Amino acid sequence: MRYNIVKGAKEILDNSDYVIKHPENHKNNWHKLFGNNNPICLELGMGRGIFIIEMAKKNPNINYIGLELDASQTATAIKNIGLKKLNNLKIICNDASNIINYFGKEIDTIYLTFSEPWPKKQDEKKRFTSISYLKLYDRIFKKNKHIILKTDNKILFASSLENLSEFWYTFDKVSLDLHHDERNIPNVMTDFEVQYYKEHRPIYYVDAKYKD
Ligand SMILES: C[S@@+](CC[C@H](N)C(=O)[O-])C[C@H]1O[C@@H](n2cnc3c(N)ncnc32)[C@H](O)[C@@H]1O
Repeated sequence: MRYNIVKGAKEILDNSDYVIKHPENHKNNWHKLFGNNNPICLELGMGRGIFIIEMAKKNPNINYIGLELDASQTATAIKNIGLKKLNNLKIICNDASNIINYFGKEIDTIYLTFSEPWPKKQDEKKRFTSISYLKLYDRIFKKNKHIILKTDNKILFASSLENLSEFWYTFDKVSLDLHHDERNIPNVMTDFEVQYYKEHRPIYYVDAKYKD
């Protein structure tokens, strides 16, 4: 799928109340920013935000943060929010590798949706389920850890299951074809997922938890 370049993306970000310009200032205090003690879920690489926006609309008692590196994608996400104000949604435009600067132990769930697969051996560390990333997540999860991952990429999926197991996560649900799974796993589609669904590509899914 092609990424569109959005002219004036930086300006759109600067003028949006959804975008948290200095996320490091809110470390350990995101509940104050949201104005409640509801759970906080984080999506890394939210792209155009279709998933996180829909989740925020569907679940007003859960707080959502969408993080995306690319300014054009983030600007499109802001446009996609529409006119209805979502008090339970915040956006960060930055690199996911910086998350420990933004969050203390305050995250309940991390969503990894169609993340870059980085299939080459030498790029493994960049995968959002690499050992290095799982170590970062350990520093921002509350007591329990919860990761929901969806991908169309077998290599990423297999290495994710392996690394999550190494970190003692257990799998509540695993599916090798989410959209045809007889268990009817509740699902909100992402932008990429809509495209892959149309192409009849199977979606791999795991709901992984670690409880102390
Ligand atoms: C394949 S797209 C998936 C977008 C969206 N999750 C979806 O399913 O439609 C991956 C997204 O992750 C973002 N991304 C890649 N590396 C990132 C990083 N290190 N930090 C934050 N976002 C990143 C890309 O800019 C891109 O928008």
